[in-house]
Amino acid sequence: MNNRCRVAVLISGRGSNLQALLQAHDDGKLQADIVGVISNKADAGGLNYAADANIETAIVNHLDFPTREQFDAQLLATLTRWQVDLVVLSGFMRILGDDLVNRFAGRMINQHPSLLPDYPGLNTHQRALDDGIKKHGASVHYVIPALDAGPVLMQAEVDVRSGDDADTLAARILPLEHKMIVAAVNLIGCGDVAMGTDGLIYHCGIVLEAPLKLSNLSPKTGQVETESNSD
Ligand code: GAR
Repeated sequence: MNNRCRVAVLISGRGSNLQALLQAHDDGKLQADIVGVISNKADAGGLNYAADANIETAIVNHLDFPTREQFDAQLLATLTRWQVDLVVLSGFMRILGDDLVNRFAGRMINQHPSLLPDYPGLNTHQRALDDGIKKHGASVHYVIPALDAGPVLMQAEVDVRSGDDADTLAARILPLEHKMIVAAVNLIGCGDVAMGTDGLIYHCGIVLEAPLKLSNLSPKTGQVETESNSD
């Protein structure tokens, strides 16, 4: 029986996280299938990764739709056609309407380049540097109607170094984002993680009290190390 999790990835640009997911799939290390990639930009570099992997793509350009509702309706039609179980917003730089988000409650995750709840929104690295903070990073969270505010599943942390600028910080965080999105999709794909109708994240049936840390993932298995399975 094939009941693997069917994932759609939504991008707006480079698509290096999509590439990481596709590479993990190629390597037999993704517990899900990428069934389609949607971009709101026809020239998004990430579309090439989808084409190389023979993954179906759709361009849904927000500029072609007079209202957000119509844009969202086209996204929904595409996701429905692909029978998607999980939507991954991976550098997708459009805000989705509440109806679409609610339709995918518990089935839509977003990558965000900060340690949420700090620095929702844009220019996260520069804002973090301007504040002089010592730790920065990235998050994967479930999507709810409020922007960048849904429950956080996983985080990866880096030390901010003297001399860092937004580019050096982004370059240090991005490889961690690649690992984190693969791990997050795997945890959801294999059923170990789910968001309940109460809006809480459950990990192996237990409420997740704090975001999982990428640094706690086993380098051997890619699974989360707990007291019972770490040696
Ligand atoms: C990632 O850093 C992700 O956290 C960020 O866009 C980048 C996508 O990189 N997402 C956001 O800023 C969402 N607000 P990629 O296109 O190379 O995967």
